[in-house]
Amino acid sequence: MITKQKGTQDILPGESIKWSTIEDKLRLICKIYGYNEIRTPIFEASELYHRSVGEGSDLVRKETYDFIDRGGRNVTLRPEGTAGAVRSFIENKMYAENQINKLFYIGSMFRYERPQKGRLREFHQFGVEAFGSKDPIMDADVIMLAVTIIKAFGLKGIKVRINSLGDEESRNNYKEALIKHFSSHIDELCNDCKDRLVKNPLRILDCKVDRETNAYKTAPKIEEYLNEESKNYFNSVLKYLDNAGVEYVIDNNLVRGLDYYSHTIFEVEAQIEGFGAQNVLCGGGRYDKLVESLDGPSMPAVGFAFGLERFLMALEAEGKVVDQPNKAHLYIMPLGEEAKIKCLKLANEARFNGLITEIDYLNKSMKNQFKQAERCGATYIAIMGSEEIENNEINVKNVKTQKQEKVNVDDMIEYIINDINSQRRCSGHCSSCGGDCEE
Ligand code: HAM
Repeated sequence: MITKQKGTQDILPGESIKWSTIEDKLRLICKIYGYNEIRTPIFEASELYHRSVGEGSDLVRKETYDFIDRGGRNVTLRPEGTAGAVRSFIENKMYAENQINKLFYIGSMFRYERPQKGRLREFHQFGVEAFGSKDPIMDADVIMLAVTIIKAFGLKGIKVRINSLGDEESRNNYKEALIKHFSSHIDELCNDCKDRLVKNPLRILDCKVDRETNAYKTAPKIEEYLNEESKNYFNSVLKYLDNAGVEYVIDNNLVRGLDYYSHTIFEVEAQIEGFGAQNVLCGGGRYDKLVESLDGPSMPAVGFAFGLERFLMALEAEGKVVDQPNKAHLYIMPLGEEAKIKCLKLANEARFNGLITEIDYLNKSMKNQFKQAERCGATYIAIMGSEEIENNEINVKNVKTQKQEKVNVDDMIEYIINDINSQRRCSGHCSSCGGDCEE
């Protein structure tokens, strides 16, 4: 038996309904916020990730799925969505059409990580990227979108952490200070961080292993290295958020794992008991130099991405049932060969008219067909036997109200649709349903 690859998942029918419900809602929210969908390839030139996410990042050094294709090209399965969106933004000259471009994407990403709860090798992101504004209003708007998403799904146990990496000058000064500090505490650092000290000193602050060391605790803080402009920028973002009532905490140790960020960065963390170590649901920030560094025009941008597996885990941990599998409106029971021929046509017409319709495919006995109808959650059962065929009728039963009527076959669909509509309008006191029709 061939089994799935380590760190990948099958999303089976009972689960996929949750995914499509989440995705539908995310698409609707994006529409309201003016974001348009972009779909980029699942693999790109490896160089794209080396030049954007960064040679010094753990992601590029250890986690990408790289391969050489049959034409000898170096390609990489996308580990995240920003680089591809930026590549496409430049290649398609989107900047020439609109001053502001707001994009979103939903899709699989691939990282060769050690699988654990909430960490997969193939996972899914929902992300947004907003191009064109170098104004704190855009940072705040993007963060507020992330918070709206959380609220729209009813998630309560979350924390928004926010920090500023400042502009290039501030960041360079800070990096220098970190190198100086950690060089004099080199013995306290883990092997990974010794390496990071040379390649990417900011990432030491993200290290879970060194967190308890004296070196970590006494490290200089970025806020002390932000120049005036960067400080003002960050304060403006916070002012917008405060005014809109967005709750957040400033976390000086937040650095993010990808190299392209400047100024505002943020993460949304799940704070739900038993959730596990991989509790960052969403991460993002501003990346003003990335478009230019990939040979595009000078173009500020800001965005974020949610990990959808973790998002779904959080919803389930808080008991937010995402969706029930579809229940049938109608179950059609043909009794005999001639009835089957008529009923399949009828089922198809009912479906064409929007009724979720099931029919017996297995020549089951009537008793077993009733059981099957119950399993499908059908509200209506329509039975056709020889007597009904003779009179061009079908026997329709409303399972909830127990009302049963023979109707002309040609009128069945209209009959059921009218019945559904009349029940929807019912105030709960009508005589036909006995007050049990608030669906
Ligand atoms: P990221 O923090 O690398 O950022 O990933 C975003 C989210 O993807 C994480 O917060 C997490 O929920 C999820 N995630 C990452 N790796 C895994 C994994 N191995 N298994 C399951 N979920 C995972 C980015 O990717 C940036 N491109 C976000 C961004 C967009 N910044 C600006 N624009």
